[in-house]
Amino acid sequence: MNTRMRGRQKAAALAALLLMSCLNASAAGGSIERGRYLAKIGGCNDCHTPGYGLSGGQVPEAQWLVGDQLGWNGPWGTTYPSNLRLFFQKVSESEWLKMARERQLRPPMPWFALRDMSDEDLSSLYRFIRTLGPAGELAPAYLPAGVEPKGPAIRFPQPPK
Ligand code: HEC
Repeated sequence: MNTRMRGRQKAAALAALLLMSCLNASAAGGSIERGRYLAKIGGCNDCHTPGYGLSGGQVPEAQWLVGDQLGWNGPWGTTYPSNLRLFFQKVSESEWLKMARERQLRPPMPWFALRDMSDEDLSSLYRFIRTLGPAGELAPAYLPAGVEPKGPAIRFPQPPK
């Protein structure tokens, strides 16, 4: 291959890369301010921030979305609201957009609310929570049905035996 062709190939590759990064950046384009608003009104704090509901939303933002040790127990087993401050450090924005549309989580996580959000709102949530930075510990692991949770848990009715 001669040098001129190699140069042209390089230029084409560069142009493709540039185009891809532009598409990526403009794909969702959420804002941090809207993400903060959505976390408040979309219920994310209600489950993912310890004490948020009981204090009437008085938890300082620095402690938001760190996950909870309080389990939700029902026919699905016991689930714990994940630490979203750690979770969002691990995924890219485009992975998050794909995941939010496709992943079905266990109750009582309203995964269908994420599925039905606009790309812009998902992107806003992502940018806001990521900006808060990592904090806290991982939430306890999911327990399958029949395994008794050791810590406190909110009980949903079990199906009749
Ligand atoms: C009624 C309680 C509740 C509400 C409200 C709620 N979540 Fe959750 N969320 C959970 C629980 C419980 C889990 C764990 C589900 C599981 O184990 O399958 C979870 C899991 C998740 C996960 C998966 C994280 C991981 O580690 O894989 C994400 C992302 C998430 N929630 C985001 C949100 C966002 C964003 C909102 C607000 C729009 C929200 N949640 C509102 C309870 C809730």
